[in-house]
Amino acid sequence: MNTLHDIASAMVTRGQGLLAADESTGTIKKRFDSINVDCTAANRCNYREMLFRSQAMKDAVSGVILFEETLDQIGSDGTRLVDLITATGAIPGIKVDKGAKPLAGHPGETVTEGLDGLRERLATYHDKGARFAKWRSAISIDEGRPSWNAVKANAHGLARYAALCQEAGIVPIVEPEVVMDGPDARHDIDQCADVTRWVLNTVFNELFDARVDLEGMILKPNMVLPGQNSTKHASVEEVAEKTIACFKAEVPAAVPGIAFLSGGQSDIEATAHLNAMNAAHDLPWALTFSYGRALQAAALKAWSGRSENIIAAQNAFDHRARMNGLAACGKWSESLET
Ligand code: 13P
Repeated sequence: MNTLHDIASAMVTRGQGLLAADESTGTIKKRFDSINVDCTAANRCNYREMLFRSQAMKDAVSGVILFEETLDQIGSDGTRLVDLITATGAIPGIKVDKGAKPLAGHPGETVTEGLDGLRERLATYHDKGARFAKWRSAISIDEGRPSWNAVKANAHGLARYAALCQEAGIVPIVEPEVVMDGPDARHDIDQCADVTRWVLNTVFNELFDARVDLEGMILKPNMVLPGQNSTKHASVEEVAEKTIACFKAEVPAAVPGIAFLSGGQSDIEATAHLNAMNAAHDLPWALTFSYGRALQAAALKAWSGRSENIIAAQNAFDHRARMNGLAACGKWSESLET
């Protein structure tokens, strides 16, 4: 499997999706704090090895997004974690951005950095086995936000990153996330839809200008949802309808797949929304998951840093991944959760 098109298609194999295990050291520390586990390199390695040795990797996971540290880590029997992943049939990928940094002159807004030296880093990551990459831009909604400058700067960064990836033989995951959180109670589903359309439109214009081959990339967006403090609830059907309408208007059919982030939804919400989109619509692209929290939360809790819990944690992960694999085919129902 060599060409960008083949890799991108394999990443969205029907019934499978991506495991986002690329939490930065700061983010995984927050996750470990919630289960009272020290955030050491050894614990991060043990936790991720537990996931990568699970049955779900063969059944429902097409690829894994790694943090740079994991690319060099070695499992308990001396096998590189990257080789563990490849042995399951899943594709290893790597988060390459250097994080969202404050955007000068725009209080409360960020721009994602990491382009300097990226060409050289990508060559190293490819040598170590990575075949796709991820770059996340965060766009927040609040009074007067997002600004055009934040939308434009983030879209431009995503496009330059994507072109560099393709030059290196690496499939770019393009992740413009309109974040759910924020204090504004007026941030409802329709406002999310408007901003998501604006952002996607800008991103695809930039990708066109940067001569990115759309068939050799994967889009990783937010779903269209009410903000966390919105007073207006949205049903599963409304989320599915508004998300699909937004993507049909803005995402060219040449893109092979859309792999959603979970963004703070509960495990069941993330599965139910994905299922509703796949069950009720005839779509030009594969629609699947690239979840972090919504795939790992139950497994993390079951593991709690103890080796005697590994089987229970793997069972929890297998279940969640299987549910999302079914949702990617529109074949999930809540009765399967028990
Ligand atoms: P969540 O599914 O937890 O939002 O994480 C996905 C991700 O990779 C964010 O960049």
